[in-house]
Amino acid sequence: MRTPIIAGNWKMNKTVAETLELVREIRQSLGEAPEQVEVVLCPPFTSLWVAKNSLGRSKFSLGAQNLYWEPKGAFTGEISPVMLAELATYAIIGHSERRQYFGETDETVNKKIQAALAVGLKPIVCVGEVLAEFEAGKTNEVVRRQMRGAFAGLVPEQVQNVVIAYEPVWAIGTGKAATGPGANAVVAQAIRGTLAEMFGGEVAQATRVQYGGSVTPANIAEFMEQPDLDGALVGGASLKAADFVEIVRATAKAKS
Ligand code: PGA
Repeated sequence: MRTPIIAGNWKMNKTVAETLELVREIRQSLGEAPEQVEVVLCPPFTSLWVAKNSLGRSKFSLGAQNLYWEPKGAFTGEISPVMLAELATYAIIGHSERRQYFGETDETVNKKIQAALAVGLKPIVCVGEVLAEFEAGKTNEVVRRQMRGAFAGLVPEQVQNVVIAYEPVWAIGTGKAATGPGANAVVAQAIRGTLAEMFGGEVAQATRVQYGGSVTPANIAEFMEQPDLDGALVGGASLKAADFVEIVRATAKAKS
């Protein structure tokens, strides 16, 4: 059984004060996180501490949006996994915006995954093709290459602690989501297929895989009806408490 996981990727949004407000709204509307769904909030680094304090002992988890792979040292402006381990349970690694704007590669993604796992942080590893690759019918090839790069050198026991997010880049922030069956096929073939080749069928079936890209309350059910999709990585809709809560509720309903 794979517990569905809904993660809100706030990206570069929300001050400390705004974070407190959004966390309060989400908790007020949702109450406790439902039993059937793991709910993760990924605010900016600057908000992790207040979010952690305001969540207290509730069942919501926190995630960072990035990290650097060294534990400490002269790396001005970077944040280490050791620092994050005190604040968060998860860390998003390899988001397409980091690949696109900040020079993230399959190699740096791999280093970051290893560094996160070494301190007990659970990576949410993002993979997905850009529009030109999608249109050229190269989706599976691209995602397989990203998967092999990201997971190189890992052992099956480590992969248990990893979540993967399939995010077609053309669907992120565009309002043009993939289709449920389309996303499911990529996850089944390219993501679980590569996991099976690298780590065996059991790991491939046990690993949780989210869909991401223009997820809304209106389309979440279409994704959660798919057998290989175990939740979502939600960007824009995670900034509105009502939308995010509806996405969590719809996931609980679809997966129960
Ligand atoms: P979106 O972003 O939901 O705004 O498309 C998803 C993501 O980037 O993780």
